[in-house]
Amino acid sequence: MATCPQAAIAEYPDIVQDVLKINDEKILIAAMAIGYEDKEALINSYRTPRIERETFTKYFI
Ligand SMILES: Cc1cc2nc3c(=O)[nH]c(=O)nc-3n(C[C@H](O)[C@H](O)[C@H](O)COP(=O)(O)O)c2cc1C
Repeated sequence: MATCPQAAIAEYPDIVQDVLKINDEKILIAAMAIGYEDKEALINSYRTPRIERETFTKYFI
């Protein structure tokens, strides 16, 4: 399945609180949409550039 982080959902707290049965004690800042990607849609072939993981990751073992 495909995922898409979305902060825009935080602009609709009333709907989210109603659906998730939560109140103002929780602050929603982002959510992750999960679904099946449309492989025929041109926008879904867009890829953003990435830097190598090793340039920003430090492992403590
Ligand atoms: C924390 C976070 C929040 C995001 N919120 C939104 C959003 O509200 N609306 C939107 O169109 N894209 C949002 N994006 C961008 C997309 O989720 C996604 O990163 C973008 O389409 C590029 O895809 P890629 O990250 O796979 O390269 C957000 C990304 C991140 C990391």
